Amino acid sequence: MPEAEAVSRMFGRIAKRYDLSNHLLSWGIDFWWRRTLVEKVKRTQPGIVVDLATGSGDVAFALERKLGVQTEVQGLDFCQPMLDEAERKRLNRKPVPGVHFGWADILDLPLASDSVDAVTVAFGIRNLENRSRGLGEILRILRPGGNLFILEFSQPYRWFCPFYYTYLKYVLPILAGWITGRPDAYNYLGGTIMKFPPREGLVLEMREAGFRDVLALPMTLGIVSIHQGKKVAGE
Ligand SMILES: C[S@@+](CC[C@H](N)C(=O)[O-])C[C@H]1O[C@@H](n2cnc3c(N)ncnc32)[C@H](O)[C@@H]1O
Repeated sequence: MPEAEAVSRMFGRIAKRYDLSNHLLSWGIDFWWRRTLVEKVKRTQPGIVVDLATGSGDVAFALERKLGVQTEVQGLDFCQPMLDEAERKRLNRKPVPGVHFGWADILDLPLASDSVDAVTVAFGIRNLENRSRGLGEILRILRPGGNLFILEFSQPYRWFCPFYYTYLKYVLPILAGWITGRPDAYNYLGGTIMKFPPREGLVLEMREAGFRDVLALPMTLGIVSIHQGKKVAGE
């Protein structure tokens, strides 16, 4: 089975318990990570924002709340059960948010070139089969002057690594197994976190893809970071 299909199926199996496991496994710090991301997006005052790998839609909802009605927010993902969860949450909110959810693969986005002011990707870039192609697609849809914001796990500060990797390898699958009933999914996720490049590595990849003014902000002992990069005219 192609890797992308396996990833989509794996998220499909945990979709219903995804939010709960996120909040429990991060001790609730994930709310703060997503809030920080959204505040950074707000500073760039975008008119159209696309949240890729939107999953159950939490970043898309937070963007809509923070940016208000003058900003159009779209959440896209290639896992239908995750999108169903996002839509179920949307319809249960009062007032019903104006966010639109839809199916899309980051590696082949159904969006016009130069059409979007900001792109967010929270905890999704790590799962891409071909990261440079994904970054290229994002650069294509951004208008010149538009920004990409990536919230993603990263390699923590060196002294913390032994504790963290032990947690990812031995503790996370057990806890996640209790919460979601799918310890295998969290074996995979823990593995992708450990294999993901450090902050400087992703900065370099973004520059190589054509982004400029690339910055990385470490948070929570470097466990996660926000990377930001700009599309410049003519690149
Ligand atoms: C860990 S979840 C993150 C969800 C959400 N952004 C959040 O912050 O909770 C990763 C999501 O990335 C999606 N994903 C992975 N690869 C993708 C791709 N190539 N195209 C679109 N979505 C993808 C998965 O389906 C999954 O919903």
